[in-house]
Amino acid sequence: MSDIAISIKGLYKIFGKRPKKMVEYVKDGMSKADLLDKHNHVLGLKDINIDIPAHKISVIMGLSGSGKSTLIRHINRLIEPTSGNIDVYGKDVLSMSKVELREFRRHQTSMVFQKFGLHVHKTVAENVAYGLVIQGISLDQAKKDSHKWLERVGLDGFEDYYPAQLSGGMQQRVGLARALATDADILLMDEAFSALDPLIRADMQDILLDLQQDLHKTIVFITHDLDEALRIGDSIAILRDGEVIQQGNPQDIILKPDDDYIVDFIQEINRGRVINIKSIMNKGKTVEGPSFHQSSVLENVLTAVVDSDNHAANVVDDNNEIIGSIHLQEIATAIAKPAVKSNININYK
Ligand SMILES: Nc1ncnc2c1ncn2[C@@H]1O[C@H](COP(=O)(O)OP(=O)(O)OP(=O)(O)O)[C@@H](O)[C@H]1O
Ligand SMILES: [Mg+2]
Repeated sequence: MSDIAISIKGLYKIFGKRPKKMVEYVKDGMSKADLLDKHNHVLGLKDINIDIPAHKISVIMGLSGSGKSTLIRHINRLIEPTSGNIDVYGKDVLSMSKVELREFRRHQTSMVFQKFGLHVHKTVAENVAYGLVIQGISLDQAKKDSHKWLERVGLDGFEDYYPAQLSGGMQQRVGLARALATDADILLMDEAFSALDPLIRADMQDILLDLQQDLHKTIVFITHDLDEALRIGDSIAILRDGEVIQQGNPQDIILKPDDDYIVDFIQEINRGRVINIKSIMNKGKTVEGPSFHQSSVLENVLTAVVDSDNHAANVVDDNNEIIGSIHLQEIATAIAKPAVKSNININYK
């Protein structure tokens, strides 16, 4: 099976009466603001190129209006692009017939929504079973099949409750169980945890990460919260005004922000808690001193490095082999916030 689950190429979306014509203007460099001012069209997405790996959590992040929902809805074609391509496991989503598209939505993708999207007149068990019933499975069987997912999200015993009788966090657990019950490989999560209180939200992130360790789903997770993105994303793409301005793993985003918008985004991050020692080590060099696993974050090694004779430590891999080393100075440099770059140095990709 391919490592790339979803491949998006040259995707444009323009809202308005004459989108095809407007794409030409945008391709010629017209900004989102000018397109609205001069032509009364909204630039939703501009030249999006993203490869979403299979079985990982890919986060799409950006401020309100940056195009996150528009992008995720193209993946199961709830929105038609103005131009561009979307392949899912090598299959062109745009050339699917109605029947193929329906099958694709029922079997290959599941959505989890910000406002939970539960049926208020159905019980918890019926809600979770819903996706299976749509696949043609009887309600009784579907309820039986979905019970294990309710257990997995900690809602065993709540089968006969109605959504209104549950807290927001519990309702979103139902939403998650429903998405998992259909066995779809691709989970599309649009601000799925954004409506929840911080502690409940952190709980949900834990549940998702825990499930992902077993299930290895292909998850596209939208958020406007950088802490959340860094916590759960294997990779992160940052959108601004409909454009991807940087994609990379969380370490890349923090250590090599591409422009001022991202530098602004990462200002408030606790860098010592996010940056790992592998990202900043001197490869191959060994020192006299303590050893730490490559995934250790700076905060957790700092005291030991300060206390060591050489103010240094080795970095080891899963096999306990030394793969490099770090010094106090590099840790301090990495923890220091990046300065906002001058406009002259902005590197728009
Ligand atoms: N149906 C539509 N008609 C016109 N413009 C639209 C439509 N849907 C979205 N837009 C515009 O496209 C842009 C991207 O919207 P989108 O909803 O994708 O943003 P978002 O990043 O999901 O924002 P939020 O964080 O608020 O959910 C915005 O400028 C929005 O106004
Ligand atoms: Mg949105």
